[in-house]
Amino acid sequence: MESYDETTYGDAIAHIYDDWYESYDPAAIETLAELARGGPALELGIGTGRIALPLQDRGVMVHGIEASEKMVAKLQAKPGGYRIPVTIGNFADVPVQGEYPLIFVVFNTLFALLTQEEQVQCFRNVAEHLAPDGVFVTETFMPDMTRFQRGQNISLVAMDDGYLRIDVTRHDPVLQHIYSQHVAWTESGARFYPVRLRYIWPSELDLMAQLAGLKLVARWGDWSKSPFTKDSGKLISVFGRA
Ligand SMILES: C[S@@+](CC[C@H](N)C(=O)[O-])C[C@H]1O[C@@H](n2cnc3c(N)ncnc32)[C@H](O)[C@@H]1O
Repeated sequence: MESYDETTYGDAIAHIYDDWYESYDPAAIETLAELARGGPALELGIGTGRIALPLQDRGVMVHGIEASEKMVAKLQAKPGGYRIPVTIGNFADVPVQGEYPLIFVVFNTLFALLTQEEQVQCFRNVAEHLAPDGVFVTETFMPDMTRFQRGQNISLVAMDDGYLRIDVTRHDPVLQHIYSQHVAWTESGARFYPVRLRYIWPSELDLMAQLAGLKLVARWGDWSKSPFTKDSGKLISVFGRA
């Protein structure tokens, strides 16, 4: 995994991404549409458009930033996909023009930036592209140390006749890194899909916002706006100008 960069995950997984992660919570689309207040919205790490396409169908104009051209090709091949402009690049740089009432990054994609420095840089660049009353929305998992024994975890994801999918993970609590391989086994052999993440604690997320001149305006445990508690598996955070 030495040559891992921002294109590695998307390029490896593009051909099966929509089979594995097809579903989404309809409440996500409603909440994002409400926060966009007419749009346009900018999605960081737009992927194959799992969220962007239904949001666009809901009436919000969506733009995207994406590192993997293979993921973008999948998006553009879908009905309506050609109507979503995508800038190829690293979303830490937010390499677009203009301001947006809503910028969002979902499905733990903020954690794909592998250093604290790059994550802070992302917040700062987002702040420069937010409309005066705009919001930055992040959907991230709540780090769960109980998953790991001796810094490792192996989980069964799916099993069928002649098919097995497991996730093999190593944890580095100092760097806050999670190194995983999604492994898919069929009778013709195994295929590996590498994932690297740097997780962020909620308090650190709020500090990154503060460094960028933003502040937390809402935090929920799901897209239906349930209160965020210590038992929430995920957090949806809404940041606005401080
Ligand atoms: C977990 S997928 C999420 C895709 C989409 N947002 C969704 O919800 O289905 C993460 C996406 O972010 C892209 N990505 C990862 N790091 C990136 C970076 N630094 N800059 C741009 N895109 C990146 C990957 O190629 C992939 O398409």
